[in-house]
Amino acid sequence: MPVLEVRNLKKSFDSTEVIHDISFSMEEGETVTIIGSSGSGKTTLLRCLNFLERPDGGMIKVKDDVLFDNDVIKSLSVESVRKKRLHFGLVFQSFNLFPQYTALENVMLAPRLMQKENGGAEGEIKERAEELLRQMGLEDRMGNYPHELSGGQQQRVAIARALALNPDILCFDEPTSALDPELTGEVLRVIKDLSTRHMTMIIVTHEMDFAHDVSDKVIFMDGGVIVEEGTPQEVIDAPKNERTIQFLSNYSKRNG
Ligand SMILES: Nc1ncnc2c1ncn2[C@@H]1O[C@H](COP(=O)(O)OP(=O)(O)OP(=O)(O)O)[C@@H](O)[C@H]1O
Ligand SMILES: [Mg+2]
Repeated sequence: MPVLEVRNLKKSFDSTEVIHDISFSMEEGETVTIIGSSGSGKTTLLRCLNFLERPDGGMIKVKDDVLFDNDVIKSLSVESVRKKRLHFGLVFQSFNLFPQYTALENVMLAPRLMQKENGGAEGEIKERAEELLRQMGLEDRMGNYPHELSGGQQQRVAIARALALNPDILCFDEPTSALDPELTGEVLRVIKDLSTRHMTMIIVTHEMDFAHDVSDKVIFMDGGVIVEEGTPQEVIDAPKNERTIQFLSNYSKRNG
């Protein structure tokens, strides 16, 4: 059974449709990367999955849970959107940490809010947050504030924070594009490590070598549609569609 199933997803801004009829699915433990030129709809797709945008059509299902079905659900309550969002963790390009909280507090924040509602031990939340930060290689940075951390360290805190509520699927939107090249590697390494541990992930990235290395499946988007999808060997090494070939050749020219 797929962990995520997206069918005929559509999204317009004003009268312009920017996501046209997108369908794909992924299995538990898979890493799917989405590549494509600027404006092709990658961020909008992730935002729809995370209920930061309301799709105008289609269906989103995680495991047995239909999160969104435009034919059935006409309006979503704030409470139900909040619950649906818990299936996903999201890591943005700009780390978006809370500046007034330490690394550890940033990771503990969401679990603490949940705990207020559901009960749960503060000690356990702290232990889990510390474990996640250790996993990100930040054992000696837990008490630091975001401004005391490098961009790569901040992004690793953001990844730990996204994992803190145990999402089914972790989504990344260009997680390294705001980083200097020397800090990119350390962030890609922790994402690769999560992939090896079979975390289910969707990664929008312009890092083609990384996409090739880490992906079970690569999706190439252009103009709001999926143009081509398959293994990295199929899509990156031997693209079939003219638009994919064009995108990859522009890309390799730019990057030498
Ligand atoms: N809130 C919005 N209002 C109006 N138009 C929007 C909005 N958000 C995105 N768009 C438009 O939707 C299209 C897809 O944008 P999106 O940000 O999803 O592309 P992208 O593939 O993530 O691009 P990039 O690689 O530059 O991040 C673009 O034409 C964009 O201008
Ligand atoms: Mg984007």
